[in-house]
Amino acid sequence: MTHRLAILISGKGSNLQAIIAAISAGTLPAEIAVVLSNQTNAGGLNYAVQAGIPTVTLDHRNYASRDHFDQAVIAELDRFQPDTVVLAGFMRILTPAFVHHYRNRLLNIHPSLLPLHRGLHTHQRALDAGDSEHGCSVHFVNDELDGGPVIAQARVAVHANDSEETLSNRVHLREHELYPRVLQWRATGRLTLDSQGAQLDGQPIPANGFDLDKWPAE
Ligand code: GRF
Repeated sequence: MTHRLAILISGKGSNLQAIIAAISAGTLPAEIAVVLSNQTNAGGLNYAVQAGIPTVTLDHRNYASRDHFDQAVIAELDRFQPDTVVLAGFMRILTPAFVHHYRNRLLNIHPSLLPLHRGLHTHQRALDAGDSEHGCSVHFVNDELDGGPVIAQARVAVHANDSEETLSNRVHLREHELYPRVLQWRATGRLTLDSQGAQLDGQPIPANGFDLDKWPAE
């Protein structure tokens, strides 16, 4: 059975686009069962429509509470029976009930080298901190914001003349390489999380995850 992804977005969807491209190129043996957005005008929805992928839009402002919204998202996603739920620029904090429902199969990409710079405005914060390198991390999601086990990271050098925009653009390019690679591990059953922690091929993943530039041999 082909591994089924549900992808959650709120915005531009460039990571979604990269995942669609990897599937088309044959490097990611998965199927995107559904793309769900909480923003009706999320640009990324167009990538899904163009690729013939079902889309669902749920405007969080129509729900009385975070819990009600998350329960509605769960109900929609579960119709599509996802093996892995992929957060790709989904700008909502998820309730513990949601995280628990998809525990061990919920992934996020965060634009920093975790555990540095959890939360928002990571590029500006890396500049303000004078970091010499910055990047992105793919991690399993748990109850702690941007705090679940890191699976892999990609680094970029910070340049003296970088602005938030130039730095963010470079990190984005790395995200587009990193997320499909990690999802390939998921789709082929190699990447798991259980009470033993995050594992690749049954071996513990290093604390800060694998480095995209030192990728383990296939
Ligand atoms: C990315 O920077 C990702 O790390 C963060 O949200 C952004 C999404 O970008 N979680 P896009 O919508 O995939 O272009």
